[in-house]
Amino acid sequence: MNIILITGASSGMGRQFALQLDRGMPSIDEFWLVARRRDRLEQLQAKLSHRAYVLPLDLSDTADLNRLSEQLIAKRPVIRMLINCAGFGMIGDFDQIPVAEQAGQIDVNCRAMMWVTYACLPYLREKSRILQLVSAAAFLPQPGFAVYAATKAFALSFSRALGAELAGRRIYVTAVCPGPVRTGFFEVAERYAAMPAYKKRTMVDAQRVVKQALIDSSRHRPLSVCGLPVKAVRLTAKFLPQTPVLYAVRRMKGTKRA
Ligand SMILES: NC(=O)c1ccc[n+]([C@@H]2O[C@H](COP(=O)([O-])OP(=O)(O)OC[C@H]3O[C@@H](n4cnc5c(N)ncnc54)[C@H](OP(=O)(O)O)[C@@H]3O)[C@@H](O)[C@H]2O)c1
Repeated sequence: MNIILITGASSGMGRQFALQLDRGMPSIDEFWLVARRRDRLEQLQAKLSHRAYVLPLDLSDTADLNRLSEQLIAKRPVIRMLINCAGFGMIGDFDQIPVAEQAGQIDVNCRAMMWVTYACLPYLREKSRILQLVSAAAFLPQPGFAVYAATKAFALSFSRALGAELAGRRIYVTAVCPGPVRTGFFEVAERYAAMPAYKKRTMVDAQRVVKQALIDSSRHRPLSVCGLPVKAVRLTAKFLPQTPVLYAVRRMKGTKRA
């Protein structure tokens, strides 16, 4: 059985990956859809023309991560694509956000991404692909979004190294690094502070990011960077000294919530 496994499929880019991939991929037998909100996953399941297997799991919970492994062991699918989209971020100064929520970002964006990838790897075959939802936040430390940006730096480093390890097996890893994308992400992210205005101006649709990511992954590119503003951020982070750039980012930070 050939499958596409998508975490974070209940919303935003994960959902969009499922919808776009549903239109092609005749060799795929089933989508595996992972997230916590069962109702959202079932709504998506009903929309897809492919068969879909709904797995309502909390990926910050080790017991649920083990449940995913058990399903893989029981069904032994061939994973043609693994798309790690589950993740969240909290905008605000480091000490203004409860530590449990700070740690939660590490649990989902880093630990779960690593764990799910590890669990899936035995089921990937030659020409299988992995897409890791990273972020442009990986390119530069972000005052006012410090833990989130650090989790994405982890995700980028992990994805690039993994891609190099797996190249010999012809399994291809693409780190998808968008800037701000119009999704449910900001309903959670803006709980303590609002996104800075300059970021709002560069927001793009999930459809566009996902389309570009699928093209880049099909071309076995290690990185998918969508849009000029994000390309500019990447170049700035690469070539300008970090201290003045961080100072400028700090000055443009978002407004505090009451
Ligand atoms: N939107 C942006 O501006 C942006 C930019 C760059 C990168 N990204 C990254 O892109 C990825 C997708 O984000 P999005 O923009 O599509 O946001 P979204 O619409 O909020 O989707 C996030 C997904 O992650 C799932 N998720 C969160 N915590 C989870 C947990 N503990 N266990 C299982 N699933 C969990 C959510 O499902 P449930 O709530 O149902 O569990 C949801 O399906 C994230 O990794 C995010 O960091 C987003």
